[in-house]
Amino acid sequence: METGRSSNSADDKAPQAVRVSALVKHYGSMLALDHFDLDVRRGEILGLLGPNGSGKTTAINCMLALLTFESGDVRIFDRPMTPVAYGLKRRIGVVPQEVAVFNELTVRENIDYFCSLYVPKRSDRTPMVNDAMAFVDLNDYAQYRPGKLSGGLLRRLNIACGIAHRPDLLFFDEPTVAVDPQSRNAILEGIERLNREGATVIYTSHYMEEVEQICDRIMIMDHGRQLALGTADELKHLINAGETITVETLDCDDQTIAAVTAMPTVIRATYDGTSLEIRCRQGQRNLMDVLDVLTRHHVHIGHLTSRPPTLNDVFLELTGKALRD
Ligand SMILES: Nc1ncnc2c1ncn2[C@@H]1O[C@H](COP(=O)(O)OP(=O)(O)O)[C@@H](O)[C@H]1O
Ligand SMILES: [Mg+2]
Repeated sequence: METGRSSNSADDKAPQAVRVSALVKHYGSMLALDHFDLDVRRGEILGLLGPNGSGKTTAINCMLALLTFESGDVRIFDRPMTPVAYGLKRRIGVVPQEVAVFNELTVRENIDYFCSLYVPKRSDRTPMVNDAMAFVDLNDYAQYRPGKLSGGLLRRLNIACGIAHRPDLLFFDEPTVAVDPQSRNAILEGIERLNREGATVIYTSHYMEEVEQICDRIMIMDHGRQLALGTADELKHLINAGETITVETLDCDDQTIAAVTAMPTVIRATYDGTSLEIRCRQGQRNLMDVLDVLTRHHVHIGHLTSRPPTLNDVFLELTGKALRD
């Protein structure tokens, strides 16, 4: 029986865990995936970053053959993914966006049930269920029913159900939405640990900080399309973004704003009457140069901050809107 990471068939040599080409998917007349492409390397944590409604869940469900699509191609471990690719499905774990567990079953029974979909023999499952429960730190709640669990504990149960059969490839769809910060950190650390132990991970989120924290590479998507793919650093280089300087000041006039905007290093300067925000290109002397111009225009500077570029800046540059709209 194939139970996951011990498998060593020929397809394990494929460098790609997932290869998606040109997926097109409509819901009625609404285009949800627009020639969506994705390559996931074996052993990496790949982040799918996009705002709500950008098509992350649709993309995942198409990759898993849970949704049909009009055209395109999905290969997992170098094999075509289909609804009846049971050998592949056994090697895949899914932690869906909506918690999906049975209220009549206890925590332990839920994990055992999901594991039994892939591992029929109970004696094989027992250590897997124990490991999964320990992994998400739910031992104290083994006999609880889901109705008695907090949101964070429910999320952890959802994760345990998805990982118990020790899959090679794991999909996490926004696993930290609506969880407290402590559970969120535990979830992120858990995902990194699963990855260190050998699992390839696809992680969707609209939180750029999380994606930047745990993902090796990040795909930015919007309107069902890939906009960019790379490491966080590569994405920031792509748009040539440097720091954003924010100056609290009450006396910035139009001339000053025009002078700042005209600086070669400045991408954009905006002033709301109390705060001047200056987005810069990459450069060594941005802060000095900006201060120089402000001083020459006799601007009184209150609080001043400078922050490095974020993935939100990348998103803003690629789409013209903020990730958190
Ligand atoms: N079952 C459905 N029927 C109709 N439209 C849907 C359905 N599921 C998702 N959509 C729409 O498809 C788009 C992509 O949704 P989704 O894949 O859930 O995005 P995300 O996971 O990035 O939030 C959204 O505009 C959403 O409203
Ligand atoms: Mg979603």
